[in-house]
Amino acid sequence: MEAPTHHILVCCSFRASGEPQGICHKKGSGNFLAYIENELVDRGMENVQVSSTGCLKVCDRGPALVVYPENIWYGGVESEADIDAILDAIEDGSVAEDYVIS
Ligand code: FES
Repeated sequence: MEAPTHHILVCCSFRASGEPQGICHKKGSGNFLAYIENELVDRGMENVQVSSTGCLKVCDRGPALVVYPENIWYGGVESEADIDAILDAIEDGSVAEDYVIS
């Protein structure tokens, strides 16, 4: 397996018990995973991987995700349009400034 060029970590609010409890899950972040995977295929971004994570500890800014290796933290990601903007930025090598958690 070739290592991915980028890794998108989507907060799905998992706690130590394994139960998803938190703002990101409540706002539908779990639904982002399938959408992102489909978009990555449609866009030919086969070197980008997406994974779910536990709480990223930025709940007040959620739904949240992180893009590595750039280590860009995004928040307020609530729609497919928001995801599209972030994927556009990964493709362009830019940053989706409207969603950056700073
Ligand atoms: S539940 Fe997503 S950052 Fe805490």
